[in-house]
Amino acid sequence: MDEVKVGIVGLGNVGMGTLTILAENQEQIALKLGFRLRVTAVCSRSVESKKLPAALGPVFQTTDWREVVQHPDVQIVAELVGGTAVAAEILDAAIEHRKSVVTANKELMAASGPEIWDRAIRAGINLAMEASVCGGIPIHAVLREGISGDRVMAFYGILNGTCNYILTEMEKRDVSLEVVLKEAQRLGYAEADPSADVDGYDARSKLVLLAALAFGEKITPSDIFMEGIRRITEVDFRYARQLKHSIRLICGARRIPEGIILSVRPALIPASTILAGVQGAYNAVWVKGEYGEDTFYYGWGAGALPTGVAVVSDLMRVAREIRSGSPERVSPFAHERLGGNKPVPVTLQKRAYFLRFRVDDRPGIIAKLAGILASKKIGLEAVLQEPCDTKRDLPFVITVEETSEQSIREAVAEMSGLDFLNEAPLALPMETAL
Ligand SMILES: NC(=O)c1ccc[n+]([C@@H]2O[C@H](COP(=O)([O-])OP(=O)(O)OC[C@H]3O[C@@H](n4cnc5c(N)ncnc54)[C@H](OP(=O)(O)O)[C@@H]3O)[C@@H](O)[C@H]2O)c1
Repeated sequence: MDEVKVGIVGLGNVGMGTLTILAENQEQIALKLGFRLRVTAVCSRSVESKKLPAALGPVFQTTDWREVVQHPDVQIVAELVGGTAVAAEILDAAIEHRKSVVTANKELMAASGPEIWDRAIRAGINLAMEASVCGGIPIHAVLREGISGDRVMAFYGILNGTCNYILTEMEKRDVSLEVVLKEAQRLGYAEADPSADVDGYDARSKLVLLAALAFGEKITPSDIFMEGIRRITEVDFRYARQLKHSIRLICGARRIPEGIILSVRPALIPASTILAGVQGAYNAVWVKGEYGEDTFYYGWGAGALPTGVAVVSDLMRVAREIRSGSPERVSPFAHERLGGNKPVPVTLQKRAYFLRFRVDDRPGIIAKLAGILASKKIGLEAVLQEPCDTKRDLPFVITVEETSEQSIREAVAEMSGLDFLNEAPLALPMETAL
């Protein structure tokens, strides 16, 4: 049985998970391919400390990634380093040496994926990036192939497992974000600097890639409205529950007549929906097609082995192309050409909103807030206030009828100057139409 040879750069979580699967599952993989995938070279800065699975056989090991890319026995390079600096050099060098690349790197692909793909096409090699979004969920394959005959109208994703873990723990246990975040850091679910997760950056990079795949648009991170979860409190979950809703960090992408609206933000979603059932560090993507209607994808968004499965599956696809001598030429972005309709500002979005206030209570507060809403032609839906024995820093909620994000922003800006508010109102869209 012949073989296709692979070089792996980066032996961290994903790199070691990938090697484990390539070693332990090699017979199944060979059975599926009709030939073997053989790891011929690996690299990491501390390669001497890594314990490679014995079943891989002899493997060239180095601390210099160039020696993997240039190795005459490496046909596919897996870049599992991360970040945008060294990783970009590795991809550039692989393309220059006409070696196909598999990457798990959402950050790099979100920043410059379409340009890298253009260069890959010109070099006649392939570029695969299934692991870059939703680790173990094959959402790229779904959008690129599985439902490519459909026209995606919208999708809603829970794409950051750390945020979903934090929010669902807050909801279950009625505790603050700070408490859960500290626990998550202790358990290794959250980084010491949690900003990439809780402020939405990680989810935004993933949304860039999924939106490009779903809509064929060239998206940049600045096209996406982003708000993290830091302002969500346990009180918000209690009020959301009264409204039969839950709160999740939702990566949303929707066609409207003017274009595509993209956002990463905490939102209220009906508690009865399948998306609200996504608990803990799981990820999910709910796609709404014009013809096939609803499809839903669920699984681990990270982790050495689930992400390793995505990397190995990409290696198998690329290896098949190398063996058949016919590169698939299906863009990892699922469209021959990206661009055309630019995304439109989120201010065009129309939604019902949940407005949470913290006030030092006194007569006339509701009338004042209602007056501002009325002046923006925003219809008030309900006022919710839990029984409370203090008049200081009292939280309560007003829900309003469907209105534009622009109007809500104007109202919130005007309200923020009121002297009885302890902080600016928190405005969350209500995704009632899911
Ligand atoms: N972790 C997940 O669950 C997950 C899920 C989906 C996608 N991803 C993506 O997968 C990629 C890898 O993530 P990870 O969690 O596996 O990261 P990681 O654990 O930090 O591993 C990174 C690896 O890259 C090596 N490395 C860093 N700089 C290098 C250099 N200049 N030369 C050679 N090797 C270098 C490190 O070497 P040393 O070990 O010697 O330090 C380490 O082995 C990232 O793009 C990430 O976004 C991760």
